[in-house]
Amino acid sequence: MSDWQHGFYKLAAEERRQRLAKARQLSMDDTTVLANTSSDLGDELVENYLTDYSLPEGVALNLTVNDKPYVVPMVIEEPSVIAAASNGAHRVSRSGGFTAPHQQRLLVGQVVLDQVTDVDKTVAWLNSQQDRILAIANEAHPSMQKRGGGAKTMTVRTPGDFISIDLGIDVCQAMGANSVNTMAEAVGNWLSDQGYHVIVAILSNLATQSLQTAKCEIAFANLATAEMAGAEVAHRIARLSDLAQVDPFRAATHNKGIMNGIDAVMIASGNDWRAIESGAHAYATRDGHYRGLSTWTVEGDHLRGEISLPLPVGVVGGSIGLNKMTKLNYKISGIKSAEELAAVTASVGLAQNLAALRALTTTGIQAGHMKLQYRSLAASVGASPAEIPLVVAQLKKEKHVDQALARQVLAAIRKDGADE
Ligand code: MEV
Repeated sequence: MSDWQHGFYKLAAEERRQRLAKARQLSMDDTTVLANTSSDLGDELVENYLTDYSLPEGVALNLTVNDKPYVVPMVIEEPSVIAAASNGAHRVSRSGGFTAPHQQRLLVGQVVLDQVTDVDKTVAWLNSQQDRILAIANEAHPSMQKRGGGAKTMTVRTPGDFISIDLGIDVCQAMGANSVNTMAEAVGNWLSDQGYHVIVAILSNLATQSLQTAKCEIAFANLATAEMAGAEVAHRIARLSDLAQVDPFRAATHNKGIMNGIDAVMIASGNDWRAIESGAHAYATRDGHYRGLSTWTVEGDHLRGEISLPLPVGVVGGSIGLNKMTKLNYKISGIKSAEELAAVTASVGLAQNLAALRALTTTGIQAGHMKLQYRSLAASVGASPAEIPLVVAQLKKEKHVDQALARQVLAAIRKDGADE
């Protein structure tokens, strides 16, 4: 390890930035950027903290879930995502909105035994100890039980030659990963004391007991484009959805589009979006074949959409109460409970998916994407906020747009400005 890295974590944030700047030959301007975007909270949250890395936040509009209108904060750098979510949400709202029932929410705490000599006998013994095991889990986190939550169920599975004891834990309104880990470890320690070889005790992100469904029905008229009738659009969307059920190559992209929306809501609401991502993709393979998380079918004169995925979200815990922006985002959305957040998040995922499939089956994705991309392209070649609309207007007239062209256009605009 280089000398400058020694004890780096112990330094004050400002000293860290100075030391790094020297080692990596950063300029004064670079270190000013790092210092200007730093925060005391960030320094509390992560090790070796330098600064806060910012991402754009916007709101998805026109979303109706369970007859309630929502404005949903989304944090994402991809230019077209919030526009697409709002577009999909608006089409669905005009046909009555999304239905997303509040569903059971249990997290899974997994305690796994290895090197078991008699699997059947051990499984039978574990099942006979269920009440005791649940009590041990609950004693490790008494406050959870006081709030009406705690370890509620126990299931024993035998993946390969392992035995997995899956605890179903109600974490109330919290994200709850730490609580689940505490409870799983307590059970793991007890089983170790009984002479078992515990290989792991940890939350499982495949939260099959926190599934959330959202559904919608869209009248054909709300799908039409200038060039294509709504019925034709609906049939094309349904076929593209069929493809995502049989072809993992398409399913991965289909689901990426859904997760564009879901991740953006997760980040804005302070949830662990990596947990949600891993659970979603594991769930997409639940029958051994990777499939789209949503399906679209034509029924009568409607297109019907449905999505189901694990959404073990929380509205308290983690950095939610600490981050000012996160707190403000709950004020903006008006979301008060984990159940409500899960319902809204699944609906945003389905809205996002609808907008992507509609674009793909009609004009193609690039038309809409590129218009939004032009702004970031203009910014990436150094256009100022005042110059960006001028560069974008020019790029819209061009057939093949890339960074080199954006640079040329900007240079021409500046030259024209200087000549005047
Ligand atoms: C791009 O970020 C997402 C899409 O590729 C999703 C899809 O193809 O369904 C447009």
